Amino acid sequence: MPIVLIAGGIGITPLLSILNSLFHWADPREVWLFYGVRNRSEHLMKNHLESLRDTHPGFRLQVCYSNPSKEDLPGSDYLHRGRIDLQLLQRTLDLGRYEFYVCGPPAMMEVLVPAIEESGVAPERIHYESFGPASINKRRRPTTTAVTAVIEVRFSQSGKTVHWDSAAESLLELAEDQGIRVDSGCRAGSCGSCQTAIESGAVTYQQEPDADVQPGHCLLCITTPATDLTLAL
Ligand code: FES
Repeated sequence: MPIVLIAGGIGITPLLSILNSLFHWADPREVWLFYGVRNRSEHLMKNHLESLRDTHPGFRLQVCYSNPSKEDLPGSDYLHRGRIDLQLLQRTLDLGRYEFYVCGPPAMMEVLVPAIEESGVAPERIHYESFGPASINKRRRPTTTAVTAVIEVRFSQSGKTVHWDSAAESLLELAEDQGIRVDSGCRAGSCGSCQTAIESGAVTYQQEPDADVQPGHCLLCITTPATDLTLAL
């Protein structure tokens, strides 16, 4: 059965091992890789992946940038603007023909894995791994309770106030989308580099942090706002 690999961010690492093994053993199956990052600055193994694409006719590389920079070239650096979602997969593939291997941040996995399953793909053909300490709960569905409440996020030092964008995976991504510079490393709650003081409001953690969090602070990479929020950024 042909294979679809779906990677978000550093989730590319285990999927690259699968990819390399398939090619090492000259597996004749068709293989697709959907790889989602913000832009070229996060695009890992770019040359290696493009080299595999150019030398293996059965390998289809689909790179998605959610927030390309001005220098990033559509059609060259990336094929799709936006995040990997079910609509993109359905536009590109007949999903029922494939076996899926998915690895990415929890926020991506918790939406994408159930969506693939609900599209009719048998659960035993969807293999997934979430990076960071949390494992995903496929039965969790996005709730609609927040739809009626607009949550405001204020970045006090930057003087910016925005509405929470539920399409953003985390407060880190929201800040970066606003052009606010934030230290970050693992983007999975482990290194602590995105720790930021909360001046008012509360956040929700998408997973238990591995890093120690000081009182009154949060890890932007694994949190979303629970209420209107002011961050010292
Ligand atoms: S980037 Fe490492 S904990 Fe947030």
